[in-house]
Amino acid sequence: MSAAVSSRLPVFPWDKLAPYKSTAAAHPDGIVDLSVGTPVDPVPDLIQQALVAAADSPGYPTVWGTAELRDALTGWVERRLGAISVAHENVLPVVGSKELVAWLPTQLGLGAGDKVAYPRLAYPTYEVGARLCGAEPVVYDDPTELDPAGLKLIWLNSPSNPTGRVLSKDELTRIVAWAREHDVLVFSDECYLELGWDAEPVSVLHPDVCGGTYEGIVAVHSLSKRSNLAGYRAAFIAGDAAVLAELLLIRKHGGMMTPAPVQAATVAALGDDTHVAEQRTRYADRRAALRAALEAHGFRIEHSEASLYLWATRDEPCWETVAYLAELGILVAPGDFYGPAGDRFVRVAFTATDERVEAAVKRLS
Ligand SMILES: Cc1ncc(COP(=O)(O)O)c(C=O)c1O
Repeated sequence: MSAAVSSRLPVFPWDKLAPYKSTAAAHPDGIVDLSVGTPVDPVPDLIQQALVAAADSPGYPTVWGTAELRDALTGWVERRLGAISVAHENVLPVVGSKELVAWLPTQLGLGAGDKVAYPRLAYPTYEVGARLCGAEPVVYDDPTELDPAGLKLIWLNSPSNPTGRVLSKDELTRIVAWAREHDVLVFSDECYLELGWDAEPVSVLHPDVCGGTYEGIVAVHSLSKRSNLAGYRAAFIAGDAAVLAELLLIRKHGGMMTPAPVQAATVAALGDDTHVAEQRTRYADRRAALRAALEAHGFRIEHSEASLYLWATRDEPCWETVAYLAELGILVAPGDFYGPAGDRFVRVAFTATDERVEAAVKRLS
């Protein structure tokens, strides 16, 4: 068995955290696991009901989704992102956004000699996607400073995982203009867009950013975080109709269909703002409690104006901080999981129950 493809990929970093997880788990009051951004609160009732109501789905779903789903996607993109004139051709469901991030460069036909760029500190799957197709991964501080030669795809991620940083409307506008001028495709991963705390995140599809047309730009949205649907695998992309038509064709051949009950659940989730507001309140309270406790304990928090994370440092190597907090029974992610530039930070997720967050706060006080 040849390992030609997996050998291109970075070492799966989470294995390195296992010994610290054991240390934290040995705490008499149990582990507080703040290392992964996985939702812990229930799937809202109206979404569960929609899933159950569509349980009798014996036929194959389509890759493009039902007409109801496409209506829900276009409606939400217009209503929530402020985009204008969004048609069915401008939306495409995907099977969770990680799948899309990992396989997009392959589906775009990129390979050796092409470059895929993403932020210096980033969700690791952007690099994985570049490596899977044999393209060259390139990191940036400001994408408009990149050499456009061979550059085929720029990933934006605002709000950012891991830093929580938000790109302003002006920055987004400048980046989109530069990318269009140099004929580089922009994919903007906006899965934390509805989780802004000290900043109001803006979509790349907003007319002030893109001028109301979508050539060369696609936004990526996920219901995992905003609707507690990580287990359902519900996400979609919206933007350039030509890019989406090509992806639809390829994904049809590849069988990348969102299950029919999940399509129905997505329609229900995008039609309701109440559960999103309620979930935001839960996260806002947990964030405030953890932030205050970490700062009182001597941590410095940078960025973190949005998303589900606090980007925190004790001005020491990140693994020392991981080890220190593990002794208190608190598990966090080392910043170097997101790039070498993060090696003095840890990422503290506030996706834990109120009870576990309270336990962490007590241990830090
Ligand atoms: C920046 C970013 N993009 C994409 C994803 C993938 O989300 P999902 O596959 O659940 O849609 C995550 C998950 O943590 C993320 O942080």
